[in-house]
Amino acid sequence: MEFSECPVFEKEVESRDGIFTLTITEEDMSGIYPGMIRYTLRLFFRMREIAVFRTNTYEYTPTDPLDAKGAALKKAAEWESGIHAEIDSFPASLSQRPAPRQFDIPGAEVIIIQGSPRADGNCSILIEWAMESVLKSGGHARVIYPHDMDIRPCIGCYQCYNTGTCTFDDDMSPLIAAVRSCSLLIICTPVYTNTVPGGLKMVIDRFQAYHAERSISKGVSGQKGLLFSVAGREGTEHFRCITSVVVPFFQNIGISGCGQILVDGADRIHDVRKVAGLREKVESDVRKCLSGAANRSAGN
Ligand SMILES: Cc1cc2nc3c(=O)[nH]c(=O)nc-3n(C[C@H](O)[C@H](O)[C@H](O)COP(=O)(O)O)c2cc1C
Repeated sequence: MEFSECPVFEKEVESRDGIFTLTITEEDMSGIYPGMIRYTLRLFFRMREIAVFRTNTYEYTPTDPLDAKGAALKKAAEWESGIHAEIDSFPASLSQRPAPRQFDIPGAEVIIIQGSPRADGNCSILIEWAMESVLKSGGHARVIYPHDMDIRPCIGCYQCYNTGTCTFDDDMSPLIAAVRSCSLLIICTPVYTNTVPGGLKMVIDRFQAYHAERSISKGVSGQKGLLFSVAGREGTEHFRCITSVVVPFFQNIGISGCGQILVDGADRIHDVRKVAGLREKVESDVRKCLSGAANRSAGN
């Protein structure tokens, strides 16, 4: 999505080194969420942008005494007094950022997020079949286990709509990178208390940063998504909350759903390998989705 920046503030600040210029612009981002406005404060010195601060209206809760525009103006005033104070470390201190983490998830054509904390349960059997199908198609798949990862819950700060990245630097960053470059994303999840297990929900919520990234700058297109789910009880109604979480999740991050395999009654069956035709269905759905994802294209 393209946003046009309108100027709302400009000020020149004299210092012993020369003139600094502070500017604030606003962008109407209501195409993403109703009423969302992003303010960008920039500091220029000798025609060069040396610092940027972004904030948006969704960061501020109803009880917050500050609003986004007020926060941008307050930050501008702080920077201005930094310039007046002639602190030697200013403005170098503005650009100091912690070094990024060195954790990596090697990319793969197919990313499978395994929602079950049981590495050898019924979900893992479905995943095994899916992996074999990917291999037979000449591709490469990687399984991600949210429960083994260092992932903090989303705190709803909405700061990802300022820059397209999350403020937390944990294992979500490499996971988002892996999903960004895959052709097919498979979510495989058991039903836990009528919905997805907590670890998977945490990952899904943290993908909000990827939604922000895609909303701010054009993302890849043509990616496919497959949903596998296993419920202990009999009846398709147990998947209602699974589909109502995973289907919008795929939509949110620009992935088109290309199939669902929902296996109920696992408590009675005990082992999904006993379900006639299930393995064939998993393998053929994976094949079908992979051929549909072949004409994936990169944006930007
Ligand atoms: C904490 C917990 C909650 C569960 N809640 C439900 C439920 O609400 N509905 C249901 O049909 N099965 C429920 N189950 C059963 C699981 O969906 C079932 O055992 C499934 O096969 C687990 O997948 P896994 O073998 O891959 O771990 C629950 C299991 C656990 C451990």
